[in-house]
Amino acid sequence: MQKKNKPIGVFDSGLGGLTVVKTLFEQMPNEDIIYFGDTARVPYGSRSPETIRTYACQDVDFLLRYDVKAIVIACNTADSMARELIKEKYDLPVIGVVEPAAKKAVSLTENGKIGVIGTKATVNSAAYENAVKAIDPRVRVFSRACPLLVPLVENGRFRKDDRVVNIILEEYLEPLHREGVDALVLGCTHYPLLKEAVQCCMPGVKIICSGEASVDMLAEMLTENDLRSESTAEGEHRYFVSDDVKSFTENAESFLGRSLDGAVMTAQHFC
Ligand code: DGL
Repeated sequence: MQKKNKPIGVFDSGLGGLTVVKTLFEQMPNEDIIYFGDTARVPYGSRSPETIRTYACQDVDFLLRYDVKAIVIACNTADSMARELIKEKYDLPVIGVVEPAAKKAVSLTENGKIGVIGTKATVNSAAYENAVKAIDPRVRVFSRACPLLVPLVENGRFRKDDRVVNIILEEYLEPLHREGVDALVLGCTHYPLLKEAVQCCMPGVKIICSGEASVDMLAEMLTENDLRSESTAEGEHRYFVSDDVKSFTENAESFLGRSLDGAVMTAQHFC
């Protein structure tokens, strides 16, 4: 098979990367996708940099079994901690989510104040601060770690009328609101499900979903490398998880907007 017709490999610690796959479906419906969610070890965001790097490389090793043509790190945490290592270690195109989201945020802010919410690891890495500084050093970034949000979303709690979600979001977002940010990056691929609830707490603020921004960059990268699929049929998508298939399948629909019944498999002999 020609390299360009091989699948794109996408990974995350769990369900969050499906928000990236959703955009991928919409923009490149003919591409085949292999998705890996490391559900046995989610969340990554509260782990040490070394552990996150080890996990991220094991995730890539798993995807390589399926001869993928490019890797999408659909996880801000893994991208912040392991992108350089992955790029060094593996000989294939790699796209993350931080750089594209930072680019989009810089293009949208009018007052030069960007807010970022993400996991502890992402915020501690200062990946967004560095990415924004490289684009425009005048823009200021205010970030906030939100460790309770991934477990909430993984458990199906994200709706804007959910009292618990609102109390937690208000506490996390209040300092960013006070700083007067006019653009807010949802710097975790689990967070797009919370977009409506976040928007209610931050009226008028432009919300950027990190995954959506990355798909535009992926399309450019595939085109530049002559790796866009030539197929005209709808792409084939396969999903693998390192833990319970049932709960992943049940929650996946909220992330993808379509049912994955029967399409999810256990990752055999994963690491
Ligand atoms: N979805 C991942 C991200 O974008 C994080 C989830 C986790 O903590 O595992 O950061």
